[in-house]
Amino acid sequence: MKTIPDGFLWGGAVTSFQTEGAWDVDGKGPSIVDARPVKEGQSDWKSAVDFYHRYKEDIAMFKEMGFNAYRTSISWSRIFPDGEGEVNEQGLQFYDDLFDEMLANGIQPVITLYHFDLPLALAEKYNGFASRKVVDLFERYARTVFERFGKKVKYWLSFNEQNLVLMHPELWGVSLEGAESEEALKYQVTHNAFIAHAKAVKALHDLVPGGQMAGMVTYTTTYPHTPQPNDAIANLKAKELLADFYFDVFAHGEYPTYITKDLERKGIMPTFEVGDAELLKENTVDYLSISYYQSQTVSGDKVVGDNPLTGLIPNPHLQTNEWGWAIDPIGLRVCLKNMYARYRLPIFITENGIGVREELNENKTVEDDYRIDYLREHIKQMKLAMEEGVDVFGYLTWGSTDLISSGGQFEKRYGFIYVNRGETDLRDLKRFKKKSFDWYKNVIASNGEVL
Ligand code: BG6
Repeated sequence: MKTIPDGFLWGGAVTSFQTEGAWDVDGKGPSIVDARPVKEGQSDWKSAVDFYHRYKEDIAMFKEMGFNAYRTSISWSRIFPDGEGEVNEQGLQFYDDLFDEMLANGIQPVITLYHFDLPLALAEKYNGFASRKVVDLFERYARTVFERFGKKVKYWLSFNEQNLVLMHPELWGVSLEGAESEEALKYQVTHNAFIAHAKAVKALHDLVPGGQMAGMVTYTTTYPHTPQPNDAIANLKAKELLADFYFDVFAHGEYPTYITKDLERKGIMPTFEVGDAELLKENTVDYLSISYYQSQTVSGDKVVGDNPLTGLIPNPHLQTNEWGWAIDPIGLRVCLKNMYARYRLPIFITENGIGVREELNENKTVEDDYRIDYLREHIKQMKLAMEEGVDVFGYLTWGSTDLISSGGQFEKRYGFIYVNRGETDLRDLKRFKKKSFDWYKNVIASNGEVL
């Protein structure tokens, strides 16, 4: 029997702001990404890889690779330029055309509502998701795009990597400046994000029959640093804070006791408005989604205070990429097995990949055997998890063309398709197939049998 069922989703994943460019075109308002200071010698976000104007060419290449799914995000400030005023028809039309082009090529859009690019006006006026006003505006935005695209898009993700909210509230447009208690504010933002997520689940189920909504986490698999029980408990607590908290709320619809007890003890329980608890309980997700890149270990001895994340240390047994991310395919299997045992929900891997500095060679290609190795080993472990009963229904690599990395570097390349641009020099933005292009094409054509 084949491990991977027919209809499995194969493709790649990106975001609007890391690919589209056209940052102020056709009525788009600025987002917090556009306002981010650009580091010396690094790319700004204005042009990215110009997907906005070149998507037909890119989609033709994705079709050639055999993609049947492609994940991107909708840029909220294309739809509502200031986040709250009039809807921008040109923004809606862009995504209509884009999704039509994908569907015409046999590629179903997988859409993230929010990938860290809040309309700038909402950060400036309301301090982003610190305000319930922004939660309501997010619901309005979600309802607008569900009504418009519900017939074209089945799989949705509310927030990209929602577990980053506690560590990086700035990605939700929040400044901690002037907060009486930074930790209390961070948990309030976390709560507001859960409520916004649940409202999006409800809106999708109200408006789109058969629409499927995920809760998503970037999953860093963790191991006890040594066999000492102290490391085992520190690891368990790190896992709770890194991933379980979010999945528990997405899947079970309530805060887990390991979080409520801690917040009560510290006196920083976020404000629950009337109806919040019921909203969470009644709007659990249809599937779970992860990005997976790396693993770490946790040392109980290193933990400072009561924050288990201070105990994270690299695994001496693993190689890393140039950016220090530990390469651990087995960690993906550990993650999938843990998730499935705890939630029994279908899982969609919506990001996995390796960033590398690359140059075109004289044959106008890149011999990216390291990428092939990385992806092959991860897909093998995914298959082993599936053979052990885990329900995975799709696998998307991070990137398809190269794109700007989250930190603003272009030289950290992820694609099967090389884009001819430098860090600040846009060159001609031409696309070239890397060696991995044909490799992935064969993987998809054989539905994961030929690796
Ligand atoms: C994920 C994000 O965390 O990782 C992406 O969803 C990001 O936006 C990707 O680009 C890879 O990380 P980086 O920092 O190498 O771009």
